[in-house]
Amino acid sequence: MTASHALLRRALLSFALLVSASFVGTFLLGGGRAEVSGSGSSNGVNAASLTSQDSPATGSPLAAGRTLFVQNCSSCHGIDASGGNRAPPLLGVGGATVDLWLSSGWMPLAEPTAEPERKPARFDRTEVLEIVRYVTSLAPSFGNPGIPFGLDISHANVAEGFSMFALNCAPCHTITGAGDALADGIQAPPLHGVTKTMVWEAVRTGPGNMPRFGPGTLSSAQVVDIVGYVVKNIQHPFSPGGLSLGGVGPVAEGFVGLFVGVGACLLAALWVGDRTENEEEGGEQDGDDGHDGPESADGHEDGLGGDDHRELEHA
Ligand code: HEC
Ligand code: HEC
Repeated sequence: MTASHALLRRALLSFALLVSASFVGTFLLGGGRAEVSGSGSSNGVNAASLTSQDSPATGSPLAAGRTLFVQNCSSCHGIDASGGNRAPPLLGVGGATVDLWLSSGWMPLAEPTAEPERKPARFDRTEVLEIVRYVTSLAPSFGNPGIPFGLDISHANVAEGFSMFALNCAPCHTITGAGDALADGIQAPPLHGVTKTMVWEAVRTGPGNMPRFGPGTLSSAQVVDIVGYVVKNIQHPFSPGGLSLGGVGPVAEGFVGLFVGVGACLLAALWVGDRTENEEEGGEQDGDDGHDGPESADGHEDGLGGDDHRELEHA
């Protein structure tokens, strides 16, 4: 066997090792991430199921919400929520909109020019409801939906929800709900960790750059099916093939499987090949390699040995 042969084999071997190692890494990371988002979503659901029983309301029903609004919102939205040059008016926006923007942590912004992004909510459930009550008391919210209290998704048809999701939501949020970058730097956020109430509110109010799906587009039953699909299947994906690698999708997961598998086969083949060659070289018949002085002088070649540099010089 020639030096260049050995070199090629070593290159292949390192490549196979690298590929397998990196994909095993992805595998572990993917699993870890899935776990983190899983626990996040269950916390979110628990938070949403809390009701306003656990905090004493002081004074008039609107006083607490007004105080919170003045302290946290009025600097941008105006003292009477009529808006200004820093932020849009909130008059008439409906409870669902205010609830969603607070539950997602989008509001309050630190500064008016900041991008609203997902943060842990600043307020607990009671405070959110107080702010919602205050803001919606300021003006009638013609046709704009309120908070869907008692939203029941236990009878949601998730198969129907899946096809509605694929049609209406996947173009932006992707079919796995992992979110995606849209044109102009707009980000469709991942749907892991959102509560059923937030999904309903987003669909019916169309926050920011998301279109609004009114009753003319999706019936109440269809929205419930979509919410059921997102909360039950996207957030707790059923993985018939075992580990789901964080829900990156069947095609990507298939590729990972392929690479790990092929990498392992390649390694096994190289190892077997290596042993056979070592046996031959160890035996009498150095035969056709006889002219190759330097390599024979090295004695045999051991598969993972450290004499690459010397061989490089000879090559
Ligand atoms: C630092 C300025 C700032 C503060 C403080 C702030 N907001 Fe906002 N708010 C904005 C801006 C700017 C927008 C528009 C964001 C966008 O559309 O991307 C906005 C949008 C909203 C919207 C969506 C309005 C719509 O029609 O879609 C709601 C609801 C809202 N804010 C509620 C609140 C509440 C409630 C508070 C207090 C807890 C608050 N905001 C605090 C600047 C602020
Ligand atoms: C045109 C792209 C687009 C489509 C279609 C779309 N969304 Fe969105 N969605 C967005 C964007 C962008 C946001 C972030 C809102 C913003 O701009 O502040 C968002 C936000 C959300 C949120 C809130 C996430 C959070 O972090 O709190 C939910 C839930 C959601 N969408 C669900 C859906 C569902 C369900 C559908 C299908 C019925 C859908 N979206 C269709 C673009 C889209």
